[in-house]
Amino acid sequence: MLVTGKEILAHADEHGYAVGAFNINNMEIIQAIAKAAEDLQAPVILQASQGAIKYAGIDYVAALGKLVAERTAVPIALHLDHGTDFEEIIKCIRYGFSSVMIDASKYPLEENIARTKDIVRIAHSVGVSVEAELGKIGGTEDQVHVSDAEVTYTDPEEARIFVEETGIDSLAIAVGTAHGIYKGEPKVDLDRIAEIDAAVSVPLVLHGSSGVPYDTLRNAVARGIRKINIDTDIRATFARTVGAFTKEHPEEIDPRKILGPAREAMSETVKEKIQVFGSNGKAWK
Ligand code: G3H
Ligand code: ZN
Repeated sequence: MLVTGKEILAHADEHGYAVGAFNINNMEIIQAIAKAAEDLQAPVILQASQGAIKYAGIDYVAALGKLVAERTAVPIALHLDHGTDFEEIIKCIRYGFSSVMIDASKYPLEENIARTKDIVRIAHSVGVSVEAELGKIGGTEDQVHVSDAEVTYTDPEEARIFVEETGIDSLAIAVGTAHGIYKGEPKVDLDRIAEIDAAVSVPLVLHGSSGVPYDTLRNAVARGIRKINIDTDIRATFARTVGAFTKEHPEEIDPRKILGPAREAMSETVKEKIQVFGSNGKAWK
């Protein structure tokens, strides 16, 4: 069933777990996530980046996302990830996304607040939830690139002001994670998560969570993280499985035989994450 981002994160907050937010790029990935969520009875967020929407077409992404949400017996939110473009965000709302992210984190605080407020006013008027970002998360996620020198951790007091002034439903924070593949082990500022959680009233979101040690993720959840974004680890499973299959069966040309094992393997990757986040068995009717 399709639910809003606000609804799904309110439940996570009430019960002390984090919802997995998994990036979608094609039908197999969407089905893999839905199967994992249904098998483990976990609420889940399907999120598409602007790049994924450009690749597949917004009508395809929205239709597939809504179909799978209707067919799967767990709460599912359909969310725009890292929306940097006003028109793209409005288009997602128009196509039935139940949640959007406005990422104006590259702008100074006042401009981030102003751009975020514009989206909140429009999205809330039609019942769509809004995530926004404060601070700068490192690495590359499709069109969003932040170099090591540009990384800026979220300040708890600024976060309080940002949440109060914008009226957002969830806040993405920069606390040491980065998008993409890590070179060394990421150092996550767990104390900062707790400080931000104490300062703001909305659920917190951790981006760049692929490759972060599971103990660190569990500790982040204990300190208030309620949405955990995973993209890279699903991509890696996809590439590894397809690569291994085609190497072993170079004569195979049936896309179903090539992509089927990848769909199963991605579902296992998602299941593993769901168990770490503590969202298994948390689905409601
Ligand atoms: O917005 C998406 C995520 O933050 C994914 O990050 O690719 O490092 O898992 P990741
Ligand atoms: Zn992200």
